[in-house]
Amino acid sequence: MRKVVLKEKDISLGNLILVNSYYKLKREPKKSSLQEFKNNVFLDNECCYNLKEILKKIPNQEEIIPVSGFRTKKEQINLYTISLKENGEDFTKRYIAFPNTSEHQTGLAIDLGLKGENDLIRPRFPNNKLGKQFRHLASSYGFIERYKENKVNITKIAAEMWHFRYVSFPHSKIITEKDFCLEEYHDYLKQFPYPDKPLKYQNYEIYYLKYQKNKKIMLQDKDELSGNNIDGFILTRMII
Ligand code: DAL
Ligand code: ZN
Repeated sequence: MRKVVLKEKDISLGNLILVNSYYKLKREPKKSSLQEFKNNVFLDNECCYNLKEILKKIPNQEEIIPVSGFRTKKEQINLYTISLKENGEDFTKRYIAFPNTSEHQTGLAIDLGLKGENDLIRPRFPNNKLGKQFRHLASSYGFIERYKENKVNITKIAAEMWHFRYVSFPHSKIITEKDFCLEEYHDYLKQFPYPDKPLKYQNYEIYYLKYQKNKKIMLQDKDELSGNNIDGFILTRMII
């Protein structure tokens, strides 16, 4: 057991942070704290490890190419600005998040494509045999397909079959099974406030903790705490 004082600045840290046009990124990780996945594509360490675990299980995994992982604010600005000139405002707003609203700046997002010609903004990652194998495994290793066609009205980003976001297990499973987008999942979790009413899933209990100044909580050894980048934290407790 360990006692933890919740700090306001930590709301913007962790695997479950929601980053979108309403909830902007507050802290960008340093590239030196990330890990190179492949071909100069960098990712958060835990995200990178789990992506590798998925790929190990896929025959012909070398056909799956990482197109874009971590981007600095400067890189996101460049991408946005160049696209505005080349593709116009409508396309750019639909496919590229405005700087400081992009999950790519967290190190928790990866765009995948298939070997061969690949567009940097809209890589080809269809539901063919390889794509199906990847999608089938993704949620067991903490990933969700982040921008789906049926959620465009909430995410404000067009369907992106190539963009996967690491949120960690079991959140990835719950989100996928309930066909939530990350925005909906965070709304849903507010029904499960700490310490009285956990969301129970397999051998996990999940709680929402609204930030309160100087609030202290007792954490168990295997507890995971992530900010939501909105107003508090999500506690994930494994029940043994
Ligand atoms: N393509 C996604 C929305 C991004 O730029 O973060
Ligand atoms: Zn992406």
